[in-house]
Amino acid sequence: MKPLSILFATSEMAPWVKTGGLGDVAAALPAALRRAGHDIRVLLPYYPALKTAFPQATVVAEFHALAPALPAARLLAAETDGLPLLLLDCPELYERPGNPYLGPDGLDWPDNASRFGLLSRVAARLGQADSPLAWAVDVVHANDWQTALAPAFLHYEGGAASVVTVHNIAFQGCFAKPVHAALGLPEDAWRFDRVEYHDQLSFLKAGLQLASLISTVSPTYAREIQDEHFGYGLAALLRHRAADLRGILNGVDTDLWNPASDPALAEHYAANRLAAKRSNKTALQREMGLAESADRPLFAVISRLTLQKGLDLLLTVGDGIPQLPAQLVVLGSGDKVMEAGFQALAERFPGQIAVKLGFDEQLAHRIEAGADCFLMPSRFEPCGLNQMYSLRYGTPPVVRATGGLADTVVDLDEHTLADKTANGFVLPDETPHALWQTMERVCSAWHDKRLWLRLQQNGMRCDFSWKHAANEYIQLYRDAIATQH
Ligand code: ADP
Ligand code: GLC
Repeated sequence: MKPLSILFATSEMAPWVKTGGLGDVAAALPAALRRAGHDIRVLLPYYPALKTAFPQATVVAEFHALAPALPAARLLAAETDGLPLLLLDCPELYERPGNPYLGPDGLDWPDNASRFGLLSRVAARLGQADSPLAWAVDVVHANDWQTALAPAFLHYEGGAASVVTVHNIAFQGCFAKPVHAALGLPEDAWRFDRVEYHDQLSFLKAGLQLASLISTVSPTYAREIQDEHFGYGLAALLRHRAADLRGILNGVDTDLWNPASDPALAEHYAANRLAAKRSNKTALQREMGLAESADRPLFAVISRLTLQKGLDLLLTVGDGIPQLPAQLVVLGSGDKVMEAGFQALAERFPGQIAVKLGFDEQLAHRIEAGADCFLMPSRFEPCGLNQMYSLRYGTPPVVRATGGLADTVVDLDEHTLADKTANGFVLPDETPHALWQTMERVCSAWHDKRLWLRLQQNGMRCDFSWKHAANEYIQLYRDAIATQH
């Protein structure tokens, strides 16, 4: 079959700009699609980190003001490992350090509607007949609200097929009504069954209404978001489009996250060489100022600190951890109250609980390798990558049965142990008590060395490579294209 021309539009891409899993996906999925023989190019803003990484990028197009609120911009081309990048340069919108969405005050940049309106507008233009590039795009793939207006422009003005992927429905990009005209959307799009949402313009709703097809990042989350409890106000819309909605489980970059070759580790190991994981634990304990005890499990968290991740449950039971006995290491940032809560916990239990606030990619690798068990009691989790990294690193995860966690983690019991599917622990419900009981269960399993080894090996043998997901995306793109004929 003919290879596809795909424009992958994103607001993050690892390793340059990453606030969470979208950054990882935007790096790994296009690379996998390229390996499968497709002409995929990634569109993202030319943030300062990308300017530093690709100073030689060449200008390939210029855009004059594309709508009343949108300043002129340029498009530059570069390449990373053979993967073409299209970098959207507009210094007045993107030349800002740090987090791509938030200013130094921790609040959304007040002009995010223009910043991501421009990104969406350009994504659509590249899929249209008047694209300035000599490149005929078959499908524009938008990711999350930041690029979700692209399908709306394509719907109203014509152009390539479009797909929008929901990585997290809790973030929707809602703005005051005047933004609608300022971004150049047609007047008749202001309808409850188009882009209007409670008298605001919703980027994500626009994409979900108007994209040729919709996907999200796990089969369970695809079902959950059709339910009011998880749908953040968009459940009815998604039920209406249920036939056009697919759940495709993310993969992980198996080269980047490989304990047999990860350059961040103290010692490499594999499923049949797990003894070598131990020196990573000692190295991590030393690095984090924890007592170098070998007689208790070390629990770990690497996370955005938000209500989504359920880590308030952990704060509630945190004081009991040293008596389990167990240790805890936390790497995270986000909600200031939670940050202070974890810091206070570490101060109460020096040597047993260690907390590092901030974002540290290399430390994240060392934690996955050095910890015994990974805690991820999320209230909802569209896919989740950390539980898959943990499984690969022989660090069984503790999760709630939601979203991608339900699709990747199998609770330890006698049946799952017998059929070799057990690879972690699932909380019975969303309470501190349930987390506590499960942590006790982890401790007793960890002391049974043979049982623990089997659990680790089952997890390490799971295949989370991008190959399967890449094939499903290709089918999704072909089906999206077919809707146009
Ligand atoms: P989400 O996208 O909801 O934050 P995921 O599990 O999909 O959750 O992806 C989170 C990604 O961000 C993982 O690669 C994880 O290692 C990384 N990450 C999160 N917080 C930190 C941090 N403080 N330091 C380093 N990496 C982090
Ligand atoms: C979002 C979700 C996370 C998912 C990631 C990548 O940030 O919260 O569960 O893994 O996107 O799709």
